[in-house]
Amino acid sequence: MSDKPKLRLGIWGLGRGSNFIESCRYLNIEIVAGCDTSEHMREKFHEMVPKAFLTADEDEFLQYDMDAVLIATFFTSHAAHSIKALDAGKHVLCEVTSFFTPAEGVALVEAVERSGKVYQLAENYPFRKDCLYFKRLWEQGIFGDLIYAEFDYLHECRSLCYTYIDDTPIEPGYWAHHWRSWLNAHYYCTHSLGPVMQITGRRPIKVCAPRTTPLIPGYIEGAGWGVTPELITMDNGALVRNLMGGASGDSHRMDIWGTHASARIAQSEIRLGGSGHGQVLKLNPRWDSMGEAAEKAGHGGGDFWELEFFRRAILENQPGPWDIYRSCDVTLTGIMAIRSQELDGAPVEIPDFRRKEVRDKFRNDHRSQQHFDPRAIFPADQDTAITGEFSRVMCETDALSLPDGLKGCILVRAAFDGMKLFDEIEGDADRYRVVALVQKVLAQLPHLADVYRRGRAIADAYPDSLGGRAMRDLLDNYYYDKIIDEETTSRELSAWLGTPRPTLKR
Ligand SMILES: NC(=O)c1ccc[n+]([C@@H]2O[C@H](COP(=O)([O-])OP(=O)(O)OC[C@H]3O[C@@H](n4cnc5c(N)ncnc54)[C@H](O)[C@@H]3O)[C@@H](O)[C@H]2O)c1
Repeated sequence: MSDKPKLRLGIWGLGRGSNFIESCRYLNIEIVAGCDTSEHMREKFHEMVPKAFLTADEDEFLQYDMDAVLIATFFTSHAAHSIKALDAGKHVLCEVTSFFTPAEGVALVEAVERSGKVYQLAENYPFRKDCLYFKRLWEQGIFGDLIYAEFDYLHECRSLCYTYIDDTPIEPGYWAHHWRSWLNAHYYCTHSLGPVMQITGRRPIKVCAPRTTPLIPGYIEGAGWGVTPELITMDNGALVRNLMGGASGDSHRMDIWGTHASARIAQSEIRLGGSGHGQVLKLNPRWDSMGEAAEKAGHGGGDFWELEFFRRAILENQPGPWDIYRSCDVTLTGIMAIRSQELDGAPVEIPDFRRKEVRDKFRNDHRSQQHFDPRAIFPADQDTAITGEFSRVMCETDALSLPDGLKGCILVRAAFDGMKLFDEIEGDADRYRVVALVQKVLAQLPHLADVYRRGRAIADAYPDSLGGRAMRDLLDNYYYDKIIDEETTSRELSAWLGTPRPTLKR
């Protein structure tokens, strides 16, 4: 918006970091510089912001003349990069989460305090239209005080273990993703706990997190993106069931119970009456302002508003929603949940880093999740002519963004299991969905068989390696035998599709 004073921003980490370009234009935030060690990411960014200064060298980047830096580098680097940017005199908007160990958190708090600069965590989910709207209702007192909430960020991201965020396979192909391949999902607690904290204003003080071990097939053994539930005690004694990770169904539930009303936020439903059997009403969440621009941004408008709150904190001196202390509260909940997991779910206190005497206890606490080396998932003497195909084959077998509907192993499993359940399905619309899946498998059978065979060759070459086992696990659980037996399966699918189904109306 041209009437807003200009803010000069540099973006550090150009995968996720490139998602903010459109919103910046609207908010008169000029992107003057970009930094990424990956040439691929730099090239893509250059196409979108051709005039920005571009470098792979972070020191050169931080010397550039700009007011603020948006940090979207590796999950485990955020504290080090934030401190470096603050020390270089820049305001910081940092992607989730703020830090990886308590010791890094202490160093970050003190870097923010000595810098006098604005620090905000880029936790965007609380700024979706529905969350901001229900926050306004909460502030009007409609809900009373918080009793209980169930918030989920179950987001299955297996393919991101083997690709970058834009679906490009990891390079070199025999590596897994730097951090997504192993990260314990408790660390990623902010997309679900963040909205509860912002809507209610409450602070988490204690967490219990019993361990759950099974994962859907195709992850590397020791991966942490299973289902990770937390029971969090808030500072008024309320409980929040916070659920992260991924399984065989995504969920973004946002259910909340107050003393006067309850709501299913994702469904825009409220129950009034201060009783279990009060009146349920469907509401019509509206933006406060700038809705049209926010609608175009990612994550239901959240990506737009986190930038705008950051801009206001710098240029209009308005306190932002995620100052360094609130950022510590949410980040430390995930870190302490992992410690609770290690104690079989016993409660662990969430320290308050506003207090120096509390920080002193964690100043040297560098403990973090133990994990496999994503760069050593095949033996050291591997033949890279074989293993170099790994991330590409994984990417072709599995996929996160599915603009053309299901593909790869997900398509295969859904089609074959859909055939098994066909007579149980209610309604022709869903039956036709299964028919379409089966038609797609039939049409793609030669391609699918080729990808599955290439995957099997890698698994068979290194059967005992982490990479080989993950590949075998994926193929075996997604109808490998049927897919490679193209002839028989093609006949079987054609016969199934040709079977007269009197119950199915056109
Ligand atoms: N809030 C959200 O909705 C959301 C969505 C996606 C990702 N994220 C967060 O954004 C961050 C980045 O995610 P991503 O998907 O782009 O993942 P990523 O880890 O694949 O990308 C990080 C990028 O930073 C670059 N990089 C790393 N270290 C660097 C350095 N020292 N100097 C220059 N460049 C460097 C890498 O080359 C890479 O392109 C993650 O921390 C993730 O948690 C948040």
